[in-house]
This record gives sequence, C-alpha cells and structure tokens, in this order.
Amino acid sequence: GKGKWNGFDERDMLLSYNALKVLEARYLLKNPDTLRYVETPQMMFRRVANFLAKVDTSYGKSEEEVKKIADKFYEIMSSLKFLPNTPTLMNSGTRLGVLSACFVLPVRDSMTTPEGEGIYDTLRAMALVHQQGGGTGFDFSELRPKGDVVASTAGVASGPISFMKIFDVSTDVVKQGGKRRGANMGIMHVWHPDVNDFIKAKTGQLKDAQLQNFNISVGIYDYFMKAVERDEEVPLVNPRKTRVPGSNWDSYMVKARGYMDEEYIQELILKELEEKDAVWLDESSVITLDEAMVIAEKEGAVTSKVNARVIFDEIVKGAWDSGDPGIVFIDEINRRHPINYIGKIQATNPCAEEPLLPWESCNLGSVNLEKFVIEKEGKAIIDWDSLADTIRYAVRMLDNVIDANRYPLKQIEEATKKTRKVGLGVMGFSRLLVRLGIPYDSVDALYVSYNLAKFVYYQAFHASIELAKEKGSFPAYDPVLYRDIFDTARSFNELLEVAKLKGEVSPSVKRLMERAESLDFSQLKGERMIKGLRNSTVMSIAPTGTISIISGTSSGIEPLFALAFIRNVAVGKFMEVDPLFLEYLKRYEMDDPEVVSKIAETGSVAENVFIPRTIRNVFRTAHEVAPEYHLLHQASWQQWNDSGVSKTINLKSEETPETVSKIYMMAWRLGVKGITVYRDKSKSQQVIYFGIKK
Ligand code: CDP
Repeated sequence: GKGKWNGFDERDMLLSYNALKVLEARYLLKNPDTLRYVETPQMMFRRVANFLAKVDTSYGKSEEEVKKIADKFYEIMSSLKFLPNTPTLMNSGTRLGVLSACFVLPVRDSMTTPEGEGIYDTLRAMALVHQQGGGTGFDFSELRPKGDVVASTAGVASGPISFMKIFDVSTDVVKQGGKRRGANMGIMHVWHPDVNDFIKAKTGQLKDAQLQNFNISVGIYDYFMKAVERDEEVPLVNPRKTRVPGSNWDSYMVKARGYMDEEYIQELILKELEEKDAVWLDESSVITLDEAMVIAEKEGAVTSKVNARVIFDEIVKGAWDSGDPGIVFIDEINRRHPINYIGKIQATNPCAEEPLLPWESCNLGSVNLEKFVIEKEGKAIIDWDSLADTIRYAVRMLDNVIDANRYPLKQIEEATKKTRKVGLGVMGFSRLLVRLGIPYDSVDALYVSYNLAKFVYYQAFHASIELAKEKGSFPAYDPVLYRDIFDTARSFNELLEVAKLKGEVSPSVKRLMERAESLDFSQLKGERMIKGLRNSTVMSIAPTGTISIISGTSSGIEPLFALAFIRNVAVGKFMEVDPLFLEYLKRYEMDDPEVVSKIAETGSVAENVFIPRTIRNVFRTAHEVAPEYHLLHQASWQQWNDSGVSKTINLKSEETPETVSKIYMMAWRLGVKGITVYRDKSKSQQVIYFGIKK
C-alpha cells in the first residue's frame, strides 16, 4: 500500500544508521523469553501514539476522535518533527510506567520522616525513579554540616557529602531499566558551612574519582554575586540552628531578596509563626539580609564569615579544572517561576533544564527545528505554520503523558498533577542555522535564537490555554497570582548590551523572523485569564542526548560539535561524519574521501584555507564558537522559557580560569538560570571525542 515498500514503511528510511543502532540497542521492545524483537521503529511510534492518545477517552473523546489524535501523534513522531523524551519512548504501553525524565526529591535533615522525606526515604525514592529511567535532582543544603552534633546518638554528623556518596553508589547499582545509567544533580546552597568541600568534591584529586553519577552545582543568590562584586564577606550558616520561619536559613534569604510581594511575605511569615510556635523579632518589617544575619548570629547559627570572592574563585577553579561545579541561580529561578506562590524552588533535574519543587516531575519532548526549513523561490525560509501545528500536538501529547504516567510514589503523583509541568524543547537548532546560511557565532544567529524561542513559547503557551478550555486548568492555577514570564523577558538589545556585543541584525534575517517578532503577548495574557492554563510551565530546553541521535540532528541548541568525530555511548563507539556537511562538500565537488578523512583528523575546517569560505563560516563547531556566543544563545532561549536551558559552554583546552570567571559573572547578569562550562579534555571520560585518530 501507500507508504509501504516490501513490507517496510518508507518512514523507516528517514532513520539514519546511528538512529537504528540506538533504537535497536535500547528502545525497540523484545520478547523477554526469546529476546527477539517484537517491534520495528514504526511500531514503536505507533505504540507510543496510541497509548498516549487513549488518555483522551477519559476526557470524553469518541473512539474516532481518539484515533485522529493518535494518527497526528504518530505523524509528528515518525516524520521526526517531534520526539518525546526517552522514558516515554521506552516505557509507553509497557509494564514499566514511568514516562518522565526529570524529578526533584526533597532531603530533610533526618534519617526518616513521617512524610517520607528523610535521607533514607529519599534514597529509596531515588532508586525507584532510576529503575525506570528517570533522572533525579536534590538540594542537600538542609543537612547539618560535617562535625555538627547528633542529639539522638550523642554522635557527630558526617555531613551532606558523605550522604551524597551513598546516593552515588546506589545509582551505580540500580541501572536504569537495564538501559541507561542514572543521572543526578546534587545542589548545595552557597551559605552552607560545607560548601568548600562540596565545591572540591569532583575536582583536583577527586576528579574522575568521586560522585561520578552526579552533576554538582552550587546554589547561588544575588546577595552572593553582589558580595563578589564588592569584595565583601558572606555568612556560612548551620541550617540546624535557625528556628525562624521555614526550615532553614534560606527562608531569611527568600524574604531578604524581595521577589515576592511584601503583603504576601507578611502573610507567609505570620502563618509560619503560628504553625511553628516560633518568635519573630520584628513582625512589622520584611527582613533584610543584614537583619537576618543579626538573628542568625543571636541564634548561634553563623559558623563563620568568608569573603565571597574566595568562594567564587574556588567554584571557577573547579569548573575550569573539571567542569564541576556548575552554578544554579536560585533567585533568577524563583523570580521567573510562574507559580512561585506555591513554594520555593531549591533544586533542578540532572541537566538543569527543569527547576522543580520538591517531589515534582516533568516530562520533556523536543521539536526538531531542522525539519522546518523549507525552500521558497530558491530561498531557505521557516515553515511557521507547520511548526505551530507540530507544537500544538506536541503539547497535547506531553500533557497526556501526565495522565498516562504511572508514578513510582504517591508524593510524586500528587505534586506532578498539582502543577502539570511539561517541557517542550528543541533540537536541530544549529542545523537550522546551517540550512539558513547563518553562522552560529553571529548577531544574526542570536536574533534567530531569540525570536524562535519567542515563537515556540507563544505557540506552546497558546496550546496549553486551549487545552485548559477543553480539559481544565492545572489545580494550583491562580489567574491573578500566576506570573507571566513574558512580562519579565529581557529585550534582545538588552542582552547584547550586557555582553557588550555590537552589531546589527541584517535586513534579510529581520524579514525571516518577522512572524515571530510581531507576536502579541498581551492578547495571550487576556486569553489565559479567560480560558485558564493547563500546564504551569510549558517549555524547557533539554540536552536531547539520545532523541537527537534518533532524529539525526544536532542536539538541543548546541552548535555542531565536530564535522567528523567518534561518539562514545553506552552501547559502543560510533564514527560519524556530519551528513549535512557532506551535502555541502558535494555542492562544491569537494566530497573526495581523502578530503573528508583529512578533515576528520581535527573535526573542523576553520583553519583549512582550501575549503570555501561559505562552508567555513557556516560550519562552526563548538570550540570555535567564542564562549560569549554560547552564553548569549542560552540567554536568548531563557528569555522565552518558563523553565530552564540545558547548555554547555564549551571552551578550548587552553582557556584560562579568568574566562570561566567572566562567563559565570556575565551569566548572572544575563539572567540565565544555571551555567555549566566544559573545557576540552578536562575529564578522562568524555562522551564525544574529536577526530578519528584517537
Ligand atoms: O534525549 P533523551 O530524551 O534521552 O534525554 P536528554 O534530553 O539527553 O536528557 C533529558 C533528561 O533526562 C536529563 O536532564 C535527565 O533528567 C534525564 N536523563 C537521565 O536521567 N539519565 C540519562 N542517562 C540521561 C538523561
């Protein structure tokens, strides 16, 4: 029949060799007894589509309508225009029921608590999440510091890092669904007395040796960055010793930083005082950091004071040496969290694209931007209609995942269904740029980033509003308290100014992005007020580590990594020559095997004067792109995004710690929610290696 060829679906022909290898090794279902495959890639897409569409039955859709939705889901996946995250592809319709990639679990300063939030309760929860392919993030800052007293045993506390090691070993033991290794994010806030040990937990002698299943990040606040700028001291505080509102010192910070409105804070304080039977020193005023310090000192909670710059330099040194620690900017995360009225975010998932409340989970999915470049009258343009249509169904699919999910714990189910967060992201961004003929490290490219993000966000948000009209808003929705992130998005020029980048957007690129540039967000806000909102967040830029391989495109918003390279993944080593690059070489009759293998030695053509300039400009690889451009792309995608962005600022091996320091400082000023750098060759195990000679 149509679309079939010798019993195969011609859609299978869209899949690259590497895509098939990954699918075969990990995604396609096998008969557990005979180990024979029971599905083809198209059958996998069908399985996922049917399983997720079925959710609509419980919202009163007829069998025929459900079938239409399933067909649409299948269509956007099999055309590789959109793919949900790995757990959804692997587990939909199977015995394993976890479909989300991102989780944040609370860690309280106790072995176990009635709410199931103690250290060993969380260890168990983590194992259950890992078993099914989810990644977990934790804030360990509530744990009392090393050497502190333990009243019940008259002993001495061993501190957060020793507990992290237990989480790390458990991660090793519980391989995710037998198919991928568990990933964790460990966060410690910068006021914790053990922060110095934490910063050094994965660098220097401990590099490649400790906490190998963790990314670690320091939770940084505005007060801290200001203290770095002014060369001032900051307090280190024992979380066990403070008794004023909330569970720890952090509550002071919340109030000190003024991102909540004052009346609300007053209400919160009074409520907490009532519940906790605590004493508030000055109930008439919102507490400032200085005031908080006085209280903490009175309580004996301040263990010492340290120059902020000393801590900052240690963070920079570690990141330069090994890529760890990264930073998460706690204030920015909470300032731009649309539902910050229900609680404060302390942690993110492993790759930091999802800041989440305790127990929340989020499922992701990404549109393949490369697929939306079309030719019109000999010019490459963006197919906005098709992109909008794909996004509409993608958001519906992600929302259905929340209902189809089988949650490993009831706390996770409750928290997730209360806020219904979904994370629509993108992949193939740098290939879209290549196809549009725009170099990644140009003001034009940044303008494309900024406005594409705006378009994707607009469409996803709009889709979520329409879903609310059909199926209802997320339970924690409050039309007045909800914070629209477009009210606080920085303008494009502002971003350039902060980075001190000069340059004009060319008229042709302005025209190309006109449709996105002119979107009306005040009207969107009005619609949200009237119809409601299905999901408290809709966007998130994930790394798309495997789904980009399946789609045969570049990952997330990253530049091309190398034009030819060896990829080191769990199932083996792959040599890859970028097919798009080959296509260009052909265009210039340069696809000679000898030329290609020569290029593969370095992975790049930047220095190769025999390659046409057009190719050299457009095929910029990650290490040729100056760090500022990496960062500005991240900042652009952060402006129109209610969650976070997973991005690695790739640095050349010879870059200095000063570069890292500059980038970290600039990241804070640009309002990104987190930052990670990776200097080439700074770790022994690297997922991707340059060249084929190694
Ligand atoms: O491409 P894929 O859907 O496989 O995942 P990704 O976009 O590379 O990663 C998305 C999220 O999945 C990460 O941020 C982690 O939360 C989680 N993850 C994990 O738990 N274990 C891994 N080995 C990889 C990713």
